[in-house]
Order: sequence, then C-alpha cells, then structure tokens
Amino acid sequence: MTESAFSSDSNSERIVAGSVSHEEREVEAALRPRHLADFVGQHRVRNQLSLVLEAAKLRGATADHILLSGPPGLGKTTLSMIVAEEMGAPLRISSGPAIQHSGDLAAILSSLTEGEVLFLDEIHRMSRPAEEMLYMAMEDFRVDIVVGKGAGATSIPLELPPFTIVGATTRAGLLPGPLRDRFGFTGHLDFYSTDELEMVLRRSAAMLDMRLSNEAFSEIATRSRGTPRIANRLLRRVRDWALVSGLHDVDARAAAAALEMYEVDSRGLDRLDRSVLDALCSKFHGGPVGLSTLAIAVGEEVETVETVAEPYLVREGLLGRTPRGRIAMPAAWEHLGLTPPDDSATQGLWSLMNDSPTGARNPAESTHARQHSAVQEDMDDILFTDEGE
Ligand SMILES: Nc1ncnc2c1ncn2[C@@H]1O[C@H](COP(=O)(O)OP(=O)(O)OP(=O)(O)O)[C@@H](O)[C@H]1O
Ligand SMILES: [Mg+2]
Repeated sequence: MTESAFSSDSNSERIVAGSVSHEEREVEAALRPRHLADFVGQHRVRNQLSLVLEAAKLRGATADHILLSGPPGLGKTTLSMIVAEEMGAPLRISSGPAIQHSGDLAAILSSLTEGEVLFLDEIHRMSRPAEEMLYMAMEDFRVDIVVGKGAGATSIPLELPPFTIVGATTRAGLLPGPLRDRFGFTGHLDFYSTDELEMVLRRSAAMLDMRLSNEAFSEIATRSRGTPRIANRLLRRVRDWALVSGLHDVDARAAAAALEMYEVDSRGLDRLDRSVLDALCSKFHGGPVGLSTLAIAVGEEVETVETVAEPYLVREGLLGRTPRGRIAMPAAWEHLGLTPPDDSATQGLWSLMNDSPTGARNPAESTHARQHSAVQEDMDDILFTDEGE
C-alpha cells in the first residue's frame, strides 16, 4: 500500500483541518474571545444565547442547560467559556470520552457548587449509564449514588445545587432524544461567511501584533473554509512567512504567496483535495467513479478520501456523490482550469445533483451556508446530524 501522507488520524496535522492538534490548543486559547460581544458572527445563536443569559441574571437564577452543535472549529468551546464568564460563574470542563462510568459523572456532579457551569465536550460520546444519570441530574438536580455491590448495594439520593450544563457536539444526531430534550436552549453553529472570517482575522492580527492590508485579510479569509480555527491557523503561517521574509506589512500578494507555499489554494483546498479532484477530472473524465478506485488513483486509503477530503469538496459543490460513484461538478473543472465534458450523461448527473431536495437550514446568516445548495445540506446531514438516527 502506498505510504499515505494524509491518514484520517493525521487529519489534524493538515493545515486546513477543522479539528485541532494537541500543540495548537494553547495558541488557540490565547485568541479566544471572552465575551459575547467579541464573538464574531453566528448572530442568531448569539442573540438567543444573550437573551437566555440576561433573563437568568434578572431572575437571579442559573441559566438553562445549553446544547451547542456544529462542525469542528466554529466556536462551541469558545461559547461555553463565554457562558461561564458572562454568568460570572466558575467553569468545570469535562468530556464524553472522559466519562465512561456513571461513577465518573457522579464524582463531578456531586462536587459542583451553586451556579457552576459544567462544560461537557463531545457529549455524544458519553457512556449510556452516565447518560442516564445525567438525565436525572439535569432535570431534578439529583443523583443516586450507588454504595456497595451485588445484593447489598443501596442507592443514596443526593441533592445537587442548581448548575448549568453546556454540552457541545459535532454530531447532534447521535444524541438520544431524551438527552436532547433536557436542554433548555439548543444552538447550531454554521460555517462563517468570508466577511465574518475577516473580522475574526482582524481581531487575531491585532492580538498577534501583525499588520495586514484589507486585501490580505480577505485573501486569507477566502482560503479558510468558513472556519475561524482554520483562519487563525493560516494567519499564523502567514506571520511565520512574513517574519522569515523580513516583511512588516503583509499585502494580498504576500499572503497569497505564503499560503501557496503551504499548498492552500484560492478556495482553501490543499494538496489532497486537489489531487482527488484532479484524478476525478483527468483520469476518470469527471466520473462517476467508485470511491475505492478513486482512492487508489490518488494513492490514499478509502477512509482518508471519504472522511478527510470529501466533506469539504461536497460542501463547496466541487464533488458530487451519486449512487453510481463520485462525480466532478462543473465548479471542479472550472477550479482546475479544465474544460468540462458536454455530453448528455454528465449533464444529466449534474442536474440530478442540483435537483436533490434542499432546505436551507440557516439562510440568513452565512454566505458559505447559502452558497452550497442541496449538496451541502445532504452532506451536513450525513456528517453532523442524522447519522445513527
Ligand atoms: N465567533 C468567533 N469569533 C472569534 N474567534 C472565534 C470564533 N469562533 C471560533 N473562534 C476561534 O476559533 C478557535 C476554535 O474555536 P473552538 O475551539 O471554540 O471550536 P469548537 O467548535 O469547540 O471546535 P471542536 O469541535 O474541535 O471542539 C478558537 O481559538 C477561537 O479563537
Ligand atoms: Mg471544542
């Protein structure tokens, strides 16, 4: 098998990965907005959340439990920290994978103080027994602590002070209904528009003491895949490049040159993305071609192509998934500077993709969200909501 440069495990090492690498966490923490007013974009979620928190403060009560869902790098962890900050409450952080036994959860819950915010990241990955304990804790502020084993085991009910759970998930569809229902407020984060990403970049550049022209900001924003985490990461690479090149002011040309060096192109595609599209167009005349054949053609594992490259290509309307295999959409040919085929079979497949049922989830907010019609909706549903239901 060919040595893979992009196994799905190493996804977080890609410069355009939505997920975060271990070393990056610290750098990210420094750039996180701390107040709702500094949180860019996501107006609907932000306004609703602001209302929930204000009302809780006026009532002198703890806020309702809050569920935040959406793809990686869009600000779920950031918002959860903002909730604690805005409520003036202490924050406790844990995650689904860290809570495998109900005892783990009982230990956390029983040590919460009044008003504390408990952030549960990747809440869809919690074990079933822990999840059931959480139901009761969320609803009745009570847990049953089991003491002893076997026939002699007894459960002692323990009252808990009021607290707020903030759950985050990239896969809202994997959450069982009863758990989802116990959140008083659910916010879904969508991809950011280029303008919003520019605002994220301006804020970060000021914090990093960087000087960029307006065009440089927009150059980086258009390559950031609608994701603040990627925008900030590209900005840091541009900073490195400028530093080594002895450049104090970064213009669009410098920003583009820096990102070309890291192989991030004008639409935010990296080498893997482009090689998939290139194989699809040049070797298979635009498809349809089976996923495994396509993977062999680019010398990658099937899973890498499917989970690492495809989601963004589909979202951008560059690649289509049909029952007969993968096809290159017109935008892919255009992006590669190639002439698309004009046979009726290909046209038929394209119109099939464009006609598939749509339903704009959040039409008002993000141009990114608006740009990708049916194809994106389908893909988002597969990736972030419906799976497992
Ligand atoms: N609305 C925003 N305004 C400014 N910066 C943002 C915003 N959203 C995210 N960021 C930046 O992007 C980075 C990633 O955000 P965050 O860690 O909150 O994402 P996440 O949704 O929790 O991702 P994951 O699913 O991987 O946990 C943060 O360091 C933060 O600085
Ligand atoms: Mg997070």
